[in-house]
Amino acid sequence: VPSPLVDRFGRVHTDLRVSLTDRCNLRCTYCMPAEGLNWLPRAEVLTDDEVVRLVRIGTERLGITEVRLTGGEPLLRRGLPGLVARLSALDPAPELSITTNGIGLARSAVALREAGLSRVNVSLDTLRPERFAEITRRDRIKDVLAGLSAARDAGLNPVKINAVPVRGVNDDEIVDLTAFAAGHGYRMRFIESMPLDAQGAWDRDRMVTAAEVLDRLGERFELVPVGRQDNAPAEEWRIAGTEALVGVIASVTRPFCGTCDRVRLTADGQLRNCLFATEESDLRSLLRRGADDATVEAAWRTSVGGKGPGHAIDSPEFRRPQRPMSAIGG
Ligand code: GTP
Ligand code: 5AD
Ligand code: SF4
Repeated sequence: VPSPLVDRFGRVHTDLRVSLTDRCNLRCTYCMPAEGLNWLPRAEVLTDDEVVRLVRIGTERLGITEVRLTGGEPLLRRGLPGLVARLSALDPAPELSITTNGIGLARSAVALREAGLSRVNVSLDTLRPERFAEITRRDRIKDVLAGLSAARDAGLNPVKINAVPVRGVNDDEIVDLTAFAAGHGYRMRFIESMPLDAQGAWDRDRMVTAAEVLDRLGERFELVPVGRQDNAPAEEWRIAGTEALVGVIASVTRPFCGTCDRVRLTADGQLRNCLFATEESDLRSLLRRGADDATVEAAWRTSVGGKGPGHAIDSPEFRRPQRPMSAIGG
């Protein structure tokens, strides 16, 4: 029987985000430079066997019940449906979800569903093809839209859309994106941009706050509060008279660290107790040195035991983590 992964503030960690690669096939301007980053050497990336073992230790011994696969772009991982099938065959099996930019999802949605994936979150910052190409530096909006509908048709449910509104870039599309999502059966969320881009160019004044998003939405829709699901970062509203949900993830202006239930594993096997952690715990080295499950479990508990109360983006002492968002998995 697993014993809960509790930190010194009493937060119980049930949610594991696993980055499967730091590579991406888009180059979103708010995330990374046009030339890309220094990708991890292949030998440093966890193998499928290593990922499965760590997730198994999480579900068997530590009470992890939800696993979200992230990147970079997780669909770039070769043999992904096979890995998903192995994870969903664990006992106890975690609920499996993925956060993707949607490229390739049209091809893989059915296989992923059949392998045991439950839900998918797809990033989409604009509905306008030229603007999409400017933001992502790739002309691929069609693949994303095809991926979204393929996911829905494959029975991945819910399908959520993530958008990061940036002032002067796509903040005029908050209502349009919401109407699009509502019309197609997707759940829309707007995310406050965080100082986690690779270039260090984050600018608070260009961040669109959750309050601003809600103002814009309020001009067009009547919103009925539905609150937060479990300990999810998103706070949601229902559009009156419909089943459609729209939400905000207000990491900067309304941090939710007090109810955080997440730990993260990077593609190279480093455990992070917080998105903003400045220290990591090297589980890969433990695995490759032949550590037994109890030793890995103990390292994991020590990492969570050292978790801080939350990020301090607004403090003068704030330090960015060494890795950018794309190498952590969001
Ligand atoms: P579900 O609630 O399971 O649908 O997933 P999610 O919304 O937590 O995950 P997703 O990968 O779609 O992330 C959406 C945004 O929330 C991204 O910008 C993440 O970086 C952010 N986010 C996810 N988890 C955390 C967290 O623990 N802390 C903070 N500050 N942001 C988070
Ligand atoms: N701040 C907030 N969200 C971000 N994302 C990428 N970079 C940032 C950032 N600096 C979003 C992506 C994706 C999700 C995982 O995180 O658009 O939807
Ligand atoms: Fe959890 Fe850290 Fe995110 Fe706060 S910033 S919610 S502590 S991962």
